[in-house]
Amino acid sequence: MALRSTFNLFQKNTPSLAAANRLVSWWSNVEMGPPDVILGVTEAYKRDTSAKKMNLGVGAYRDDNGKPYVLPSVRKAEELLLSEKLDKEYSPIGGDSGYCAAVAKLAFGEDCAALKDNLNVTVQGISGTGALRIGAAFFSKWYSPSKTVYLPTPSWGNHTPILKHSGLDVKSYAYYDPKTCGLDFQSTLSDISKIPEGSIVLLHACAHNPTGVDPRPGQWDELSNIFKSRKLFPFFDMAYQGFASGDTVNDAYAVRKFVADGHKVALAQSFAKNMGLYGERAGAFTVLCADADEAARVMSQIKILIRPMYSNPPIHGARIVKKILTTPDLNKQWLGEVKGMADRIISMREKLVAGLKREGSSHNWQHVTDQIGMFCFTGLKPDQVERMTKEFSIYLTKDGRISVAGISSGNVDYLAHAIHTVTK
Ligand SMILES: Cc1ncc(COP(=O)(O)O)c(C=O)c1O
Repeated sequence: MALRSTFNLFQKNTPSLAAANRLVSWWSNVEMGPPDVILGVTEAYKRDTSAKKMNLGVGAYRDDNGKPYVLPSVRKAEELLLSEKLDKEYSPIGGDSGYCAAVAKLAFGEDCAALKDNLNVTVQGISGTGALRIGAAFFSKWYSPSKTVYLPTPSWGNHTPILKHSGLDVKSYAYYDPKTCGLDFQSTLSDISKIPEGSIVLLHACAHNPTGVDPRPGQWDELSNIFKSRKLFPFFDMAYQGFASGDTVNDAYAVRKFVADGHKVALAQSFAKNMGLYGERAGAFTVLCADADEAARVMSQIKILIRPMYSNPPIHGARIVKKILTTPDLNKQWLGEVKGMADRIISMREKLVAGLKREGSSHNWQHVTDQIGMFCFTGLKPDQVERMTKEFSIYLTKDGRISVAGISSGNVDYLAHAIHTVTK
């Protein structure tokens, strides 16, 4: 009895949980942030009920029926892995060493002297974003000549937040020419030659996102020379190896040329696009070092950075990548499938231009076929983009970028008609 009355007394004097929540708010200072630009486009697309709607905002490959595509080589690798009944133990901090060796070979080439001499420090990253983030954290802590990274204008929207999040400063160099929808190489050279010695300069290794505009081999050669004379540190982001030309060797030209010229580059790789492993998050970060002792020290510090971030990387996607890269038949099959994806994209570019001509467009659309990779910078202005969405239910980012991988034989003519209508 005494106990019950004590309890009632306690209840009377204690506010309910809801009231307590009202009294104490720990997060009243939190401001509403802006939605992600690309995911915002997808949300608006989902709400649209038009049967003709097209989502050209998202950077993921679609087959000719507009459906997500799981590569048959990936399915086969998964079947093999399933039959092996592997355990689910933790991965090492830097990922599986066989995976790291295979992905480094894919990027730098079988014959790369630096790999043969074990001068590469390669760790698994959580896809390309995670690889860039490890690199940024490592530069922020250990790269002493500079804490500034120079990005091309424009660059992938996530580069600046990733680099700033790691405490680095971000500046830019000229790259794209809106007048020609191509590369402004003279301005690129002139800007890069003014960047202070020792700075970190980020280069898209191939299939530049968002413009689809890449330097030609001879222009990469010139860039390599300037980087050497200006003592700049090249940080390559290679998220699309194989996706640009359909050939993983061609697409690695810039990285391999810089390395052959003696640059000790850093590299972020992703297997989201070229193996269609978007959600599996398999990527890698590599730094080339001067000797084995330096490589051991660098590896030790990269592990120290990874450990408190996420402890160790996910295993499934990395196992698929390793299986494909190290099983000769599967590797051959995969190379054919990457080429198939690149070829479909190239054919959509050609069909789009043919469709625009048929519509009677008098504009020069050559940049659509000159540009390369998943994206096309159409040159559409924000008001024209708005009309594309309002009048045709075609969704793309405000900068006029379309994901060519999102176009199919069934809707390419509708797209051509829409573009012609808003540009005539
Ligand atoms: C230029 C560039 N870098 C890196 C990435 C990383 O993507 P993920 O983290 O999905 O591998 C992307 C993806 O769109 C990209 O376009």
